[in-house]
Formats: sequence, structure tokens, C-alpha cells
Amino acid sequence: MGIIIDKNILKFINILRFPLIDSTNLEAKRQIMLGAKMPMLIIADEQSNGRGRLGRSFYSPKDTGLYMSYCYKLSNDIADNLCVTALAAVATAKAIEKLSNKAPLIKWVNDLYLEDKKVAGILTEAITDNEGNTVIIIGIGVNITTEDFPPEIKSIAASIGEISAEKLAFLITENLSRLIDALPDRSFMDYYRERSLVLGKEVQFTFNSVTKVVTPTGIDDNGALKIKLQDGSEQLLSTGEITLRIKNNP
Ligand code: BTN
Repeated sequence: MGIIIDKNILKFINILRFPLIDSTNLEAKRQIMLGAKMPMLIIADEQSNGRGRLGRSFYSPKDTGLYMSYCYKLSNDIADNLCVTALAAVATAKAIEKLSNKAPLIKWVNDLYLEDKKVAGILTEAITDNEGNTVIIIGIGVNITTEDFPPEIKSIAASIGEISAEKLAFLITENLSRLIDALPDRSFMDYYRERSLVLGKEVQFTFNSVTKVVTPTGIDDNGALKIKLQDGSEQLLSTGEITLRIKNNP
């Protein structure tokens, strides 16, 4: 069955394509400051400076992945970064599933996994344009056919397998556009929780260089992670500066 893309949604989006760019998120910031029309979608075939969370890089070789940034003006004040990142993870996972029949799991807060390996990451940023509007930039990177990962990520990264990067970009964009319109009701959070890779498992989280073993017990409607510590106490994690690693079985 062919995949039907809703052209009505795409018609209203300012789409910019680049064979090579440093980073679609960086280009988004430049375009926003030049007054580009929103919503805007930037797609690149390759990035020379693909960026991830916590100052990491995102490996972005030519024609083997999807590197995109979707940008929109914030029209309400209830969209924090955590929640938009969760929304974007749902939009991306649903699009991957539709095109590949593979169902990625979501590692809180921004990574998609298949068979315990990362296949996609999301970097959400916000910027104020020259007119004082807050513009949200949702950067999404998906490994489609990438094989030769750099040594430092070789054992933890994988690809989803041959699908069209363009179709994937448009399906994600369609999903994003619909979910952002419905953001206030948080309906996407049920899917986010169902697809969680970490709920109910023992994981390690590191914050301010301190690592603890904890068990995530829930995710609230704003995307914050409820965790149970080993002493039985509970905490809500909402900061982005946390690294979660599934604890290896002995
Ligand atoms: C992460 O894994 O921490 C997030 C990775 C986000 C990568 C995407 S690729 C498109 C966009 N442009 C960037 O420089 N980063 C995001």
C-alpha cells in the first residue's frame, strides 16, 4: 500500500533543501533571524556539524540519513522544551513505523531505539526572532542506511533500513503539524508512555557527575520522568541534562 502524504499541510510550509549544510538547526536559526516564513522545514542530505544534546555531535553522512529541522512560532505558553521533544519523538516514531513496519521505542527524553540501539535523536531549541516571537526549532536526525558509524558510537547506534528520506521527512512534518495543533490536550503522551524503553526497568542516571541507579515509574503529561530511587524515595526529573543508560544485565 502506498503512503499517502497530506499535501494540504505541506502547502503551508516553507521548505528549504540543502545538499550540504553545517547543521539544519543552525541554518534554521540563521533563516529565522533573516525573517523567513514560518512554519519552515529545512532538510539536508548531509551535515558537517550535526549537533546533539549536551554538546554532543550527531553523525550525519551524505544520503544515508534524514537530517531535518521543523520550526514554528509559539502560539501558546504551555509548550516547554521537554514536552515538545516528547511530541517530536512520537511524531518521528509513528512515521518510522508507518514506512518501515518497525516500531521504535523511546528512550526518555529524545532518543528512538530499535533492538537496543539508537536510530534517531531529537534536539529541540528555542530562539527569539527580530519581532520578539519565540520560535521553536525541532531538529530530528534519523539513521536510515548509515553503516560505518564512528568507533565511539559503533556499539550503540544502528539504522532503520532502506526507506525514502523525503517521505519520512514529510510524514514526520505532517505528524508534527497535527500534534502541535493538539498540544494542549497532551493526547500524544499515551503513545509516548506506551513506547517507553525505560519505564519499569532499572536504569542509571547521571546528573552533575553523580550516577544513581533508579527505576522510572511513570512519565507525567509534561514529559517529566518519575523515578524511584534505591532508598524508596521518589523524584520527578524534568531537566534535560540527564543521561540515562539501561543498566546492563550481569
Ligand atoms: C541527540 O541525539 O542528542 C539529538 C540529535 C539531533 C540531530 C538532528 S539532525 C538535524 C538537526 N540538526 C542538527 O544539528 N541536529 C539535529
